[in-house]
Amino acid sequence: MATLEQIVSLCKRRGFVFQSAEIYGGLNGVYDFGPLGVLLKQNIKNFWLDHMAKSEFETVLFDGALLGHEMTWTASGHVSNFSDPLVDCKNCKKRYRADDDDYNADKPCKHCGVKNWTEERTFNLMFQTNMGAMTGDSIAYLRPETAQAVFVNFKNVMTSSRTSIPFGIAQIGKAFRNEITPKQFLFRMREFEQMELEFFCHPSTSKDFFEKWRLCREDFYQKIGLNMTRIRQRPHADDELAHYSQACVDVEYEFPFGFKELEGIAHRGDFDLSQHSTFSKKDLSVHDQQAGSSYLPHVVECSVGVDRLFLTLLFDAYTEDILDGEPRLYLNFAPHMAPIRCAVFPLTKHQGELAQKVYADLKKKFSYVQYDEGASIGKRYRRQDEIGTPFCITVDYQSSEDAAVTVRERNSGAQERVAIGSLIEYLSVKFNQ
Ligand code: GAP
Repeated sequence: MATLEQIVSLCKRRGFVFQSAEIYGGLNGVYDFGPLGVLLKQNIKNFWLDHMAKSEFETVLFDGALLGHEMTWTASGHVSNFSDPLVDCKNCKKRYRADDDDYNADKPCKHCGVKNWTEERTFNLMFQTNMGAMTGDSIAYLRPETAQAVFVNFKNVMTSSRTSIPFGIAQIGKAFRNEITPKQFLFRMREFEQMELEFFCHPSTSKDFFEKWRLCREDFYQKIGLNMTRIRQRPHADDELAHYSQACVDVEYEFPFGFKELEGIAHRGDFDLSQHSTFSKKDLSVHDQQAGSSYLPHVVECSVGVDRLFLTLLFDAYTEDILDGEPRLYLNFAPHMAPIRCAVFPLTKHQGELAQKVYADLKKKFSYVQYDEGASIGKRYRRQDEIGTPFCITVDYQSSEDAAVTVRERNSGAQERVAIGSLIEYLSVKFNQ
């Protein structure tokens, strides 16, 4: 498997991800996405939405605001509970998360080698701001998770979309956490994106739905193309549970730095709706016609970071091998996840006109197609391999005579002659496999 340094270097070299404000020394824990990064992120988000929509569950979509009302975050428990333990080295001033592997109270600071620690204290991870022009105007928070806007709007969504329990609300959007030690590139960031599903159900069915969602999410990771031998689901021990959750399973991926959380699947019970009902004094219960009474629905949540999944796909896809006697690097993305669908090359300048026509037709169908006429065919293949393009199409001397091109498959390097007229159908089948 690749090292973190190899992934960071590839991301910069090929325009997936850049350190934010790099020319000013960088903004720690904040990243900008380049042309290929945007496409990969888009594929991840579209695949998540599509998998939700096609699942056996009823789901609707939502897009909440980034700025959150002070009371939302007080009711949710984030104002009082959303904090990490913090400790400083008094000698070199380096700051650590006290529950991080890098810190041990009984050992010297890893940075300066001196053992002189401050007391542990708690640090709230929310970014706080003020609304309005006057000092003392009301406090607002940049949301540290997308979920709360869904809970606050639960009744609005349910009544306006005429859905009924059980159903889910799916949302993709930015979240912000003032992490003490952002690290491992996209793994722990200060500004990131989440894909969250809040599934509302009757309390008597919530355990069953929790189990069903575990299976559904496993199916998602299989279909997105991850190597399932590197994925596991780990139930939380009781003392690990977040303040809102009754049960939780982490979907973990085996990174070079160990098995780490990729997604949390949590049984949140009625914690959030109950808190928001109490604090807002609005009734968020639903009526059970059969029973003739009202109840607060339970919530099963599936929450995964877009950026963390992006990093996981890169680690999983990064492959080095020897092809035609030459070492090479390729990204083994599933064809439907690759940022660039295919690339078109004229063998020499003389095939340019026909190659441009093939390119224009493919671009109309698949949108993200590259045209490359620079350097040897071998070099052009390597450039596409490195960004995970599954198919390269070469227009050669014969193409004008037999109206066919050579399609080369990324992983095996195997080549096949395909009629230009059936190229779109040929590739469509490959992308849907
Ligand atoms: N609503 C529940 C919630 O936010 P979480 O376990 O704190 O739960 C869910 O976050 C997911 O969001 C994580 O599994 C991870 O994929 C992603 N995530 C959380 N903090 C992150 C960070 N600082 N940087 C990148 N991704 C993060």
